[in-house]
Amino acid sequence: MKFLITAGPTREPLDPVRYLTNRSSGRMGYALAGAARHEGHEVLLISGPTTLDVPAGVDFIPVETAQQMYDAVQDMIKGVDVAILCAAVADYRPVVCAEQKIKKQADKLVLELERTPDILGSMRSVFGFEGKLIGFAAETNDVIAYGRDKLVRKKCDMIVANDVSKPGIGFDSRENEVVLIYPNHEVYLAQDTKEHIALQIIEHATIIPS
Ligand code: CTP
Repeated sequence: MKFLITAGPTREPLDPVRYLTNRSSGRMGYALAGAARHEGHEVLLISGPTTLDVPAGVDFIPVETAQQMYDAVQDMIKGVDVAILCAAVADYRPVVCAEQKIKKQADKLVLELERTPDILGSMRSVFGFEGKLIGFAAETNDVIAYGRDKLVRKKCDMIVANDVSKPGIGFDSRENEVVLIYPNHEVYLAQDTKEHIALQIIEHATIIPS
């Protein structure tokens, strides 16, 4: 099967030397790419900036901004069987990126932000993707309810949801504990390394019925 996986944070520039980003390490997405390759699949990883090595045998497109990630996914989606959108895409970006470094002036500086394009939400409606679609959801409460709502709204086959309020798992850590949310049931994956969680997610992804 052909997998497309997004990973890492995005960087939304404010001026030539500054950007808005988040604490995503990219580990979950890279682990998914490695696991899918390990299982013999063809894998394309589209990632924002991380310090990780691209797993051997995985095709790679580096991006920085949400818009670049959106464009790369749109360009590469044809022929993909399973898309796993794991990236922690910035939801907002500065409306303007200053051409020169912003110099300090007043005591307060107000930034105007605008929504970035929703890659997951565009997969069906804009890109016409018909393969298996897996999204991620990071929640601090009502994990199942919010995850199921996302599953329906974004026309996904499965949502991998985690509770980011729990210490030691998820964002920027080596371990994760997730719930796989399907239209009619859930599967709990106990806390484990992201590599082990990734193998289980890939196993589930490959057996989603058409
Ligand atoms: N995602 C995306 N493009 C964006 C934002 C998010 O593709 N511009 C994807 C992520 O890769 C992930 C899922 O959407 O698969 C997360 O959905 P989102 O609604 O952004 O999640 P939260 O930030 O958890 O949701 P909310 O803002 O609704 O709390």
